[in-house]
Amino acid sequence: MGKVIVIGSQKGGVGKTTTTLNLAYSLHSMGKKVLAIDFDSQANLTTCYGLEDTNELEHTIGHLMMAQIAEDVPECLEAFIQSKDGVDFIPSSIYLSVVDAKLRTEMGAERILAEVLEPIKDRYDYVLIDTCPSLGMLTINALAAADEVIITVNPQLLAMMGLQDFLRTVSKIKKRINPTLTVAGILLTMCESRTTLCKVLTEEVTESFQGQIRIFENRIPATVKVGESIYYSMPIALYSKNASAGIAYRKFAKELIAYEG
Ligand SMILES: Nc1ncnc2c1ncn2[C@@H]1O[C@H](COP(=O)(O)OP(=O)(O)O)[C@@H](O)[C@H]1O
Ligand SMILES: [Mg+2]
Repeated sequence: MGKVIVIGSQKGGVGKTTTTLNLAYSLHSMGKKVLAIDFDSQANLTTCYGLEDTNELEHTIGHLMMAQIAEDVPECLEAFIQSKDGVDFIPSSIYLSVVDAKLRTEMGAERILAEVLEPIKDRYDYVLIDTCPSLGMLTINALAAADEVIITVNPQLLAMMGLQDFLRTVSKIKKRINPTLTVAGILLTMCESRTTLCKVLTEEVTESFQGQIRIFENRIPATVKVGESIYYSMPIALYSKNASAGIAYRKFAKELIAYEG
């Protein structure tokens, strides 16, 4: 059965999109069948996959969501699913923000994405969902559809701020909508391990959640290779075989699989 994992955080710029891209590729290179879904109207992940004029796209996750709301989902979903470097993905566009507004007035609106994924997810070992930095209806839909959530934290960016709000949302969704949702753990991204600030903030996160939420052992180092690889629409491991962040994402993927037993 396909495992649905949300990459989430209430903040922007904490490595959600980068993690989705590179975790998806790492899982693929370990022989897993992976679908990545861009669930952010800014469509950064879609751009990472090399699609440029995202506003022109007519087969996006937004269109699938709207079709599900209208109960008029096309039988053949292939037009929505694209592929890059062995990873399948469903793109996004600004149209998802229209869906976001629509969801606010829809009955049972929390489960639309879960319904969209129902006929798709079992074709894959993993479905990864990249989310937008807000706790609105889109993020609620993502969490309602998920088995697990990985929270990305950038220790440079006032790491603890907002984390409790996000965890409260997760716990409410678990109680009210999706009882099997679990927090897989916190992934520290963009770590500059040589700087004191990074050390202090990493310790702060670790101490606050010890015994409560897993902090993944593998952390993602900050490196310019990440920006470069995105510029060339590639996962880091493909762009530069020995780049530290690519190796870290692969180790993290292994740790994640091992954790799931
Ligand atoms: N490990 C890293 N090292 C250096 N830069 C990174 C790293 N991870 C992400 N970035 C950069 O930080 C910015 C924000 O990352 P992104 O994944 O888009 O975050 P989010 O999706 O949470 O907004 C991007 O410009 C990205 O290239
Ligand atoms: Mg993003």
